[in-house]
Amino acid sequence: MLNLKTLFTLGYGLYIVSSVSKDGKINGLIANSVAQVTAEPIRIAVTLNKESLTHEYIQQTGLICVQPLTESADLIFIGNFGFRSGRGFDKFAKMPYKLSKEGLPIVTVNTSSYLTLKVISKVDLETHTMFICSLEEAELLDNSCPPMTYAYYHHDLKGKTPKGAVTYQKEEITKKGEKKMKYVCNVCGYVYDEELGDPEHGIPAGTAWKDVKEDWVCPVCGVGKDQFNAEN
Ligand SMILES: Cc1cc2nc3c(=O)[nH]c(=O)nc-3n(C[C@H](O)[C@H](O)[C@H](O)COP(=O)(O)O)c2cc1C
Repeated sequence: MLNLKTLFTLGYGLYIVSSVSKDGKINGLIANSVAQVTAEPIRIAVTLNKESLTHEYIQQTGLICVQPLTESADLIFIGNFGFRSGRGFDKFAKMPYKLSKEGLPIVTVNTSSYLTLKVISKVDLETHTMFICSLEEAELLDNSCPPMTYAYYHHDLKGKTPKGAVTYQKEEITKKGEKKMKYVCNVCGYVYDEELGDPEHGIPAGTAWKDVKEDWVCPVCGVGKDQFNAEN
């Protein structure tokens, strides 16, 4: 018996994980794979997909900033970090942030604290690297809002999980032999699923993509149908 639904019963938080390149460029992503793994000495593990730009910067400098998200973060904020790569796009252009003494970006909204880390060892996990880190600097920012859990992100915000995430699972796209298509927003990663439609915005479940009206916009980031591609 191997019921993969059990994996959805594991609990996580959501974090901004950022880094700085050797020539001072900054970038960050959303990750749920952050955990304190020992107390004495304090060690924190962060697991990132090897294809991400943030992974590239961490390999260059060994520096990481981790920031727990709070429930005040909306899908557009999360989409900025979690559904687009920073290659050719500045994720910090419209973001309020300050720099740590090592040049790491510290976002000042939608997060309760920041922890700056130094990589002390790495575990190669084929698609991902687990960075084991020491804790260098840590400060509280705003603890007035509850932390965002992965469960809150899925159930309350109705957020999706992209391929790079450690918890990604391929969803079933066929039902009763009939193939239903999915279309992915190039900007934020929202997926229009023909099986589910978008009932909150007047598109009933089962509506084929070609029948979705032309003035429909992505419910997460607001772009039009022309910004969507069929999912492979
Ligand atoms: C809810 C959520 C959880 C995620 N968890 C992880 C994770 O644990 N590790 C990871 O490498 N990427 C994770 N991602 C995916 C990255 O945030 C995403 O691939 C990002 O666009 C990479 O950006 P970059 O190339 O600019 O570094 C997650 C995304 C979301 C929305």
